[in-house]
Amino acid sequence: MEEIRQNLALDRNQPVGVFDSGVGGISVLRELCKVMPEENYIYFGDSINAPYGTKPLEEIRRLTIANVEFLLRQGAKGIVVACNTATAAAVRVLRNMYPDIPLVGIEPALKPAALQPGHPTVLVMATPMTIQLEKYKTLMMRYEQKADIIGLPCPGLMEFVETGNTDGEDLKQFLEELLSPYLREIDSIVLGCTHYPFVRRMIEELAGERVRIFDGGNGTAREMCRRLTKAGLRTSRRERGTVTFENSLAKEEEIELSWNLFQKK
Ligand code: DGL
Repeated sequence: MEEIRQNLALDRNQPVGVFDSGVGGISVLRELCKVMPEENYIYFGDSINAPYGTKPLEEIRRLTIANVEFLLRQGAKGIVVACNTATAAAVRVLRNMYPDIPLVGIEPALKPAALQPGHPTVLVMATPMTIQLEKYKTLMMRYEQKADIIGLPCPGLMEFVETGNTDGEDLKQFLEELLSPYLREIDSIVLGCTHYPFVRRMIEELAGERVRIFDGGNGTAREMCRRLTKAGLRTSRRERGTVTFENSLAKEEEIELSWNLFQKK
């Protein structure tokens, strides 16, 4: 690690590194490409170790640090932690380890949901670990005067997206069972895991038009843009940049799934 740190000479035309426990963070990558289309991106999905959200904290931290180091070795000039679980578990550790690198995490978009008028009831869907961690509890406490907030751990949901299932009958049934106890009382849903935007349409169908859905991907992309700009690290390229997918499963199908999700309408 010391070696990586010493060799870091950040250049504005290097790629932006993005990672997640698997393919979910591609929902954030899509937002990054909208906000900064000229940048090059390298996306790492740690699918071999997915899910993170049901693993012990220390293990999530260790895997997260390994992902950052992998991306830095690939020449990343900045890092987006496109995983709510890894952010909640390790972003502070990462900031201490890499103080000179623009590094942005993602957290559930509770703020815009809770600040809707009329003291709304907000359902936060996330991994068991995200909901259990201090970072989430602090976030919740900040808005508990403004809204009724229900944290819903969703073990098993990310696995559908990892296997490329975003519209199957089995997924619909899973979501129905998960959400039906809450649907009458809630005004909005926060997608607090980066895999969930890929099943958003199905959640919308079940929840109906009355329920608003919030996702932190775009805010995270804009924050990364601000950080890179401030550090003088925005690319000088004018044309559209490139996207490269890497996955710890190192299988052709995994890269194919990544492209499919990236291009999904
Ligand atoms: N996509 C991840 C998140 O945003 C985690 C899914 C998992 O590995 O459990 O929390």
